[in-house]
Formats: sequence, C-alpha cells, structure tokens
Amino acid sequence: MSERKSIHGEWSSGMAFFLAATGSAIGLGNIWRFPYLAGENGGGAFMLVYLACIVLIALPILIAEITLGRRGRESPLNTFRRLALDEGRSRAWAGVGFIGMLSGIIILSFYSVVAGWSLEYIWLSLRGAYQGASADRTDQLFSMLTSSPWQQMFWYTLFLALTLIIVARGVRKGLERAVWIMVPLLFVLLAMLVAYALVVGDAHAAIVYLYSVDFSRLSGHAVLLAMGHSFFTLSLGIGAMIVYGAYMPNRLSIMRAAISVAVADTVVAVLAGLAIFPLLFARHLPVAQGPKLIFASLPAAFGSLPFGFLFGAAFFALLTLAAWTSAISIIEPVVSWLVELGWSRPRSVLAVGSVVWMSSMLIDFSLNVWSGITWQGRTLFDLFNFVSSDIMLPLGGLLIALFAGWVISERSLRQELRMNRGALRLWLWVLRYVTPVGVLLIFLNALGLIRGAL
Ligand code: PHE
Repeated sequence: MSERKSIHGEWSSGMAFFLAATGSAIGLGNIWRFPYLAGENGGGAFMLVYLACIVLIALPILIAEITLGRRGRESPLNTFRRLALDEGRSRAWAGVGFIGMLSGIIILSFYSVVAGWSLEYIWLSLRGAYQGASADRTDQLFSMLTSSPWQQMFWYTLFLALTLIIVARGVRKGLERAVWIMVPLLFVLLAMLVAYALVVGDAHAAIVYLYSVDFSRLSGHAVLLAMGHSFFTLSLGIGAMIVYGAYMPNRLSIMRAAISVAVADTVVAVLAGLAIFPLLFARHLPVAQGPKLIFASLPAAFGSLPFGFLFGAAFFALLTLAAWTSAISIIEPVVSWLVELGWSRPRSVLAVGSVVWMSSMLIDFSLNVWSGITWQGRTLFDLFNFVSSDIMLPLGGLLIALFAGWVISERSLRQELRMNRGALRLWLWVLRYVTPVGVLLIFLNALGLIRGAL
C-alpha cells in the first residue's frame, strides 16, 4: 500500500467510490450507444462478443487502472510518470496519460452534443411535441434539431456548464455529492422505464431479437465495435478510472470494487435494451438506425403509447443524468493535471471547458453547415465517435495493460491489491497475455489482415 495522499481529496466511503465509478461507467454508452450498435450489428451475437470483451479485456484493465491510480495518487499523467520512476523506468510513460487526455477531450466533444439532444428531448416530451407523430415526423423533428447550429449550441453549452459547475467544486463537495443524488435516481428511473416497457411494449420480440445469436451477422468490424464499446462503457483508456482510483481510500478492496462496477454497468446495458426495444417493436419501428435510433425512432413509440409524454420525459431525464455523471469523469483527469501544475480548480475547469466547448462546436457544425465535409462517407461526428472509442480507447487500454502488467513489479501490485495469491496471479496472467493479444487480434481482424491471410 502506498502512503501517498492525493492533493485533490478522497472519497468518503466505499459507497462513494462505487457511486462515482458506476456513474462514470453508466452513461450514453449504455443507453444511447449500446442499443444502436447491437441493433445494427445483429443483436445477440454482438451481445455475446461484447460480454466476452468485458470479462477478458475490459475488466482486467479496469482493475489495473484503479490500482495504478491508487498507487500514484495523482492525475493520470503524473501517476504514470511517478510510477515509472518508482520502478526505475522511463518517464516517457507519461505519454499514455497524455493520449488519454486527448481522447477524453475528443469524446466529450460529441458526448456533450448528444447529451444536449437529450436535454432538449426532456423539454420536447413535456411539451407533447411528438404526441401522435409518425416515425417520419419524429425523424424530421430530430433532423430539424441537428440542422440548427444555434439550437444545438444552446443545449450542449447548457450541458457543459452543468458539468463544469460540479467539477469546479472539487472531489467531495462536487463529484461525490452529485453522484450520491444522481446515481440512485438513475436506477429508480431505469427500473420504472423497464417496467413500463415490459407492460406496454412487445417484450417477446425484444428478447428474441436481443438474445437470439446469429453469428452470420457478425463481421470483423462488428467485433472491433464490440471491443471498442467494452472500453467505452467501462470508461477505460482515458484515465477516468485512474483518477477515480487516486481518490479511493486505502482500506477498500480494489478487486471487489472493480467487479461491482463492471456488473452494475453490464446490468444497466441489458436493462436499457429492455427499456427501449420492446417499445420499438410494439410500434414496428426500425431498429438499425445508428446514432439517431433513440432520438428519431423512440419518440414515435412514446408518442402513441399511454402516458408516453411522461415516460418519454423520464427516459430522456435518465439519459441526461447518465451522461452527466460520466462527463464529470471525462474531464477530471485533465482538470486534476492542471491543478497539479499549480492552477486553481475553477481556472482549470474553465480552461478545459473552453477547449471542449470549441471542439463541440466543430461537431455541431459537422451536422449542419459543414455536413458536406466527409471522409469515406463519415462526418466529423461519426469520425470522432469511431476513432476515439474504437481506436484510441483500445490503444490507450493496451498501453495501460502493458504498463501495469510488465512495467510495474508484481510486488508493488500485490501491496496495492492485497489479495489472495492465486487470484492475483490469474488476473496478472490475463492482463499480460490475454488482454494485449486480444486487443491486437481484434485490430488486425478489423483491418482484414487475418481474413486476408487465411
Ligand atoms: N462510460 C461512459 C459511457 O458509457 C463514457 C465514458 C468513456 C466515460 C470514457 C469516461 C471515459 O457513456
């Protein structure tokens, strides 16, 4: 165990860590991204590959991130530097923290745009804007929103401001207090929405769709997406879990905490599917619509179901809450680093916030005024979404696995993890061999190299 103390503060209890880390993990990934990825890539088979990636690749890295964070007790960048120096290795490992911060900024710039849509949809639901509307009409409604740069700007600016206010207040008064309220509320809303969907929706069709496994619909690219998503959903590869680990009290068990977070996140992904697909199937709405699935199709379902406007509002409130508790964890790695450079927290928050706000603007414009600018058919929005989650996060995660597995000594890991030797060995073996080889194979597979060679 290290005797270091974080200058940023500490979570007050194990529950506080659990809520913060679960709040980070549960986000747009579970409720917006996962359903449309599963919808586009063959339902059950995608789900199975995703679960395998969680267990064999993402969970071992989650344990590694929390362990590194708690041992270094600094921002991810400085934690890498400090731990590398402790082991007599190159301080260039700090670069991994740097890549992570960059990925975080890229992610947050489209994340806040999507969270902004969600905020607007709470308002639209309450106003009854899509009451009785056909799927074509709700699709149009969504296009109207994305084609207006200023309207979008209003909503993501609001979302970013809400996020920055929390982070500016620090670990105990900001982050911890927020998650104590928001995460339990999120679970209540989700339970309510699942119950609603099972009662008024077509649960049977949803279950057949989500759980029947058809591997013929699974491409190499889909496997890459499932892996990328396992990183995205557990908030890996950018240092979010490292920094949350840095605030974790020494007495808590890292292994137990990591497993609880991974289980809670997976349960929420499954429940989110059960809250969404029964409604879509009840109205025979298209499920393979990509990123606009829950904004273009789902409102058409709510619009014609009993109390749809209320449950619709609850759904988008859930989505907004989930995004909010994740967004704070995306900027905390950068903010903590600036604070360690000597900046005040409010000033750091403002600096990071301005950069993210400007890159959100790029994403915003890529959906309207610059929608003609594409690369291989992808807009900047699609590119940021794909490159950050499916390339940068796995790459960051791979480097983290190599760092924890090969650079940090087993003795240091054992001191921090304090667990039974057999379990530690098993984790370390998976982290050293299975995880990196898995990531590389999936990359190669997606590049077509493996299939080309066979
Ligand atoms: N895990 C979050 C989600 O599922 C997204 C996220 C990614 C948060 C990376 C932090 C870091 O929405």
